[in-house]
Amino acid sequence: MKPVKTRQELIKLYIDFFKSKQHKEVPNSPLIPQNDPTVLFTTAGMHPLVPYLLGQKHPLGKRLCSVQRCIRTNDIDSVGDRFHNTFFEMLGNWSLGDYFKSESIEYSFEFLTKTLGIPPDMIAVTCFKGDKDAPIDKEAAERWKNLGLKEDRIAFLSKEDNWWNPPGQTGPCGPDTEIFFWVGTGKPHGNPGVNPKEWAEIWNNVFMQYEKREDGSFAELKQKNVDTGMGIERTLAILNKCESVHETNMLFPLIQKQEHLSGKKYGNEPNETKSMRIIADHIRASVMILAEKKAPSNVEQGYVLRRLIRRAIRHARLIGIEGKFTKAIAEEVFPLYPDYSYLEANKAFILTELEKEEERFSEVLEKGIRYFARLKETIQGKVIDGKTAFLLYQSFGFPIEMTQELARENNLEVDIIGYEQEQAMHQELSRTATEGKFKSGLADNSEATTRLHTTAHLMLAALRQVLGGHVEQRGSNITAERIRFDFSHDEKLTPKQLKEVERIVNDNIKNNLDVKREEMTVDEAKKTGAMGVFEHKYGEKVSVYTICDPNNIVSREICAGPHVTNTKEIGRFKIQKEEASSKGVRRIKAILE
Ligand code: ALA
Repeated sequence: MKPVKTRQELIKLYIDFFKSKQHKEVPNSPLIPQNDPTVLFTTAGMHPLVPYLLGQKHPLGKRLCSVQRCIRTNDIDSVGDRFHNTFFEMLGNWSLGDYFKSESIEYSFEFLTKTLGIPPDMIAVTCFKGDKDAPIDKEAAERWKNLGLKEDRIAFLSKEDNWWNPPGQTGPCGPDTEIFFWVGTGKPHGNPGVNPKEWAEIWNNVFMQYEKREDGSFAELKQKNVDTGMGIERTLAILNKCESVHETNMLFPLIQKQEHLSGKKYGNEPNETKSMRIIADHIRASVMILAEKKAPSNVEQGYVLRRLIRRAIRHARLIGIEGKFTKAIAEEVFPLYPDYSYLEANKAFILTELEKEEERFSEVLEKGIRYFARLKETIQGKVIDGKTAFLLYQSFGFPIEMTQELARENNLEVDIIGYEQEQAMHQELSRTATEGKFKSGLADNSEATTRLHTTAHLMLAALRQVLGGHVEQRGSNITAERIRFDFSHDEKLTPKQLKEVERIVNDNIKNNLDVKREEMTVDEAKKTGAMGVFEHKYGEKVSVYTICDPNNIVSREICAGPHVTNTKEIGRFKIQKEEASSKGVRRIKAILE
């Protein structure tokens, strides 16, 4: 294999290779998408190209390539293993209605085996195995075979693994073929379908050949696109025979700094090694977010940043780093990215904000940890109630995810719905305190949030009507922009079911239904059939919100609010995404238009 040591070398090899195949390089876009409020961060190289994948003409032509900085917050809990990062860079090449499967696979194979010199035997791939919507992707598998891949290196997997979904409910989508590298011990054998732990994915080629339509069917697309993504950190790890991405020179300087500060040796003890990986990943990602002029806060990107910094600080304490350390580690990031001139240009802001957050949190962290230790001794049962989780947040600055992580480490759980209710109640109380009186409207964005809170009740009611009485709320997160709502249900919703839920919610909105608030005890609430999470320790009295149409109770829920007084205030409801959240739990993201 080629001794490719640095990211700059790998990027140059990749971009030069695709330029030699008539691709034009598109610029690396900001981490915070500029015209897309539906996501917090750019998560893939295709993100800035969505309009062109949907048919708009790209000024640079039909063959494009890029290196794109990305953040995947979904992977935060996997950081510390061998191959996951929150921040990473993705190399990609695209065909906008130009070449398709055959060339795409050929280019990937040529780049991996000739340019990088990877022996074909160390490579395995997965292809789509086919289902009722689309046939088995024999074409991709045949192409791999005639390039020289052995039959037993090809796995056929289902939609879960080998399908790229459209960003919304409809749009371009299709099967993909994922390329893996052998990371097991001994001679390479099997494939990701047989011994998945011994294969690491390094590159994904998506073949956008279908359009998903409103009725759930798939039609062949006129413009067939290729969208690929290759992880730089993973590829460097493989080329340099590193155990994980953390030993590559993209992250190892940040780990060595920690060894120096803590006196601990990386690789000695599994928990300490994991903490060191988390610290390196999170500080690097924080530097990258700060470089785009976002400061820590309690909302959106600022909140993700706060979570990353605070989690890094907690793990630093676990490995015995006592004093301030974030700046020393962050300093190691700058020389790694000489091409990101905006990093140096914003250095003062980055380091100052990092230290400010460190100071803020260090003051309360230790007290919080002591509080948690006492709690662990005295807690009855296994669940940390919502009030306590909220207190950890409010008094000690523990992001809820940190409390959940601490809970997991101690075999406890957090009552997340209770936490959210507590949070909503607190927002309500502090608003009342500031204003000195109740007002129906909320300050700033909060009117939008209020509308979405009531919408969430209507949505739960509609989901129960469409899917059945087994549907219960499992969690919700509401911002001024959107609802994220988790509920119990085993299967993916069909497009028809989703449309039906939308229709029911919108009908109820249009019917100008009053939203009535009553106070009562939990027992009384239960007797009236109100939904709620009864394992919670609710207070003496609870608020019950009821929405009725002339014939029926549409929804009745115990809730800490805030809510609109009539559904006519809400607007038009639209589901943006439906996906699995965890086993037996689905997640819907929805907005008001
Ligand atoms: N967009 C595809 C991915 O991120 C290539 O895996």
